[in-house]
Amino acid sequence: MKRYQALLTLTALSVTLGACSNLERSRDLSNPQVSGNTLAQQVCSTCHGGTHMSANGNSINPTYPNLAGQQAEYLQTELQEFHDQTRKDKMAKDYMWGLSSRLTTEQMKSIAEYYAHQKPLPNPNQSNPALVAAGQKLFAEGVSDKGVPACASCHGANAEGNGPIPRLAGQHANYLYKQLMIFNSDAGRENHPEALERPHGAAMENISHGLDDLQKHQVAAYLQSLR
Ligand code: HEC
Ligand code: HEC
Repeated sequence: MKRYQALLTLTALSVTLGACSNLERSRDLSNPQVSGNTLAQQVCSTCHGGTHMSANGNSINPTYPNLAGQQAEYLQTELQEFHDQTRKDKMAKDYMWGLSSRLTTEQMKSIAEYYAHQKPLPNPNQSNPALVAAGQKLFAEGVSDKGVPACASCHGANAEGNGPIPRLAGQHANYLYKQLMIFNSDAGRENHPEALERPHGAAMENISHGLDDLQKHQVAAYLQSLR
């Protein structure tokens, strides 16, 4: 989906606004009265997974990251970055800037709590088995001759994350690989902090730069297969 389609989605969402006077079912992303739970169920579920009754945050489409069981602190930081337009990779711009631009701090906090409490389900997309075993070793041990530390040392033995460090277990390989490529490009931008696409990614820059393309695919495939 390109920017124009994302805009169309937004237009369609705002057209339904008029018809929705009930706060419990509102899709109004610019009304501070609408609760975070309602927005998650009525709006975010369209892409991040779930129904209008339960935005479970387990997305089937690998373009949309899973949010279920993600660390609340990490989720809130990312929402704030989209809102402030400081997380600025192409997909963030095309999809998340518009959706988050009018959310209040309170709404972002409650959406983050909502998703942190959803149960992560096994990823239905198959990981390439040829990549998984190598990815597992890399996650547990790092790559010592490239100065890459074990991913597990920060993300946790089961990639469950901790506070500002995101959960990676069961996340779509396609999405994870794209983020590693973004941190990798940010590694060349130390002298231009305003150009960083992921402003809180300092810990990940040299690590991503130290992984070759195959290794990025391996670790992403392994993480997707984790339950
Ligand atoms: C039209 C589809 C769409 C909708 C609707 C949508 N998102 Fe997203 N969201 C995306 C895409 C695509 C990305 C990946 C952005 C990237 O690659 O940088 C994303 C990324 C995110 C992330 C970052 C996840 C991570 O692991 O870093 C969060 C948090 C998020 N969205 C929350 C929300 C919330 C909350 C809502 C509802 C207010 C919402 N999204 C609605 C498409 C959508
Ligand atoms: C020194 C601690 C540390 C180590 C070691 C580390 N990470 Fe991270 N990682 C982080 C932090 C902190 C973030 C959040 C960055 C942000 O907020 O933008 C992150 C974010 C990520 C993301 C983005 C997730 C998302 O939802 O967008 C991926 C993918 C990732 N790390 C993979 C890895 C892999 C693979 C390794 C091992 C090769 C690794 N990390 C090692 C601290 C670490």
